[in-house]
Amino acid sequence: MNILVTGATGFIGRYLVAQLTARQHQVIALMRRPEGIDDFRRQIEGLGGNGLSLSALQGDLDQPDLGLEHAPESLDAVVHLGARFAWKLPTEAARQTNVEGALAVARLAHKAGARLVMISGFMLENAAHLQSLGIDPEHPETVDWPAVYRQTGAYEASKLEGALRVRQWADSMGLDWIEVQPATVSGHSQTGALESAQPLYQLMDNLAHGRLTMIPGTSAHQLPLVPVDLLAGLIVAACEAQTVPRRLLALDAETPNLNGVIGQLANGLGRKPPRRHMPIRVLQGLLRIPGVSALMKTAPESLQFIQTRTFSSDQTREFARSNGVAWPSVMQSLRQTAQAYRHL
Ligand SMILES: NC(=O)c1ccc[n+]([C@@H]2O[C@H](COP(=O)([O-])OP(=O)(O)OC[C@H]3O[C@@H](n4cnc5c(N)ncnc54)[C@H](OP(=O)(O)O)[C@@H]3O)[C@@H](O)[C@H]2O)c1
Repeated sequence: MNILVTGATGFIGRYLVAQLTARQHQVIALMRRPEGIDDFRRQIEGLGGNGLSLSALQGDLDQPDLGLEHAPESLDAVVHLGARFAWKLPTEAARQTNVEGALAVARLAHKAGARLVMISGFMLENAAHLQSLGIDPEHPETVDWPAVYRQTGAYEASKLEGALRVRQWADSMGLDWIEVQPATVSGHSQTGALESAQPLYQLMDNLAHGRLTMIPGTSAHQLPLVPVDLLAGLIVAACEAQTVPRRLLALDAETPNLNGVIGQLANGLGRKPPRRHMPIRVLQGLLRIPGVSALMKTAPESLQFIQTRTFSSDQTREFARSNGVAWPSVMQSLRQTAQAYRHL
């Protein structure tokens, strides 16, 4: 297949491109800096992919029509992973990249006659959360988005808005599309590799440096995870499968509660896990005191992914099974992630 990938150079993107090229697909990476393609090819080879099946197309999610002079005309799939992924983003910048950019990618998929594989996030399946934000997923045009941006922070709000607007547009155009909704990404189940900018890495770093002395929330609080190699495998299958569901939740329901995740990481790091809990609201309040967030290296925005809603991964497991996607254990991914951190 000919597959265009945005965000190919990112953490998830690299594992995806390695898997796609190893499976003989031709990958075109939309890159802001295509001059980095040789380095990128070497990285992909290092991850078991085939650098010769990879080419670059200069483009930018922030430019009108992605800044493309000539869009590829014949593609089988377009995977949209590219995003501004950070806390404390300015609203307009987040909207430009994560909403307008996502719509431009959907238009590109339509023009090229390709399936759109749109990467959103697992919070889109948390109906109570959406309702508490005043979001009707069927009618994004009725949502008071400025209020949502104020409440959740610009990253999460722009991901929600981007996904819902793309869904609406893709349906109106009769596009072949699927939305893959990842939970927080954990390290590769074999190597434990996880980048320092990833949210789970930041949690682990806080644990290793003694900054995480209490567990946020209660024993009912969860931070669902998906190992990066499992997520990449699910996205590959979303490109290849004859028929796909509209939405695919990419998480492992076997992820222990937050207590258990922290305990597993602490074990791997050779540290004593914290035992006492701190209510999320109290922690959020503390983090809003000037200087505290920087000192604790924790952004208030990151806490919203810790919640009490539980999810099932039965449908995703069935999709993985019927498409031959290996399902590595999330506990092994956590063990390897902590090991890899320790040996840095
Ligand atoms: N990691 C998680 O836990 C998680 C969980 C749920 C959903 N997601 C979603 O998964 C996707 C990928 O996440 P990730 O962790 O791999 O992120 P990442 O490592 O931060 O990668 C982001 C990618 O987006 C590209 N990008 C950013 N701005 C761009 C622009 N203006 N034009 C073109 N490309 C641009 C970056 O390219 P450069 O190399 O040019 O910077 C990079 O390739 C995102 O959509 C994120 O919202 C991630």
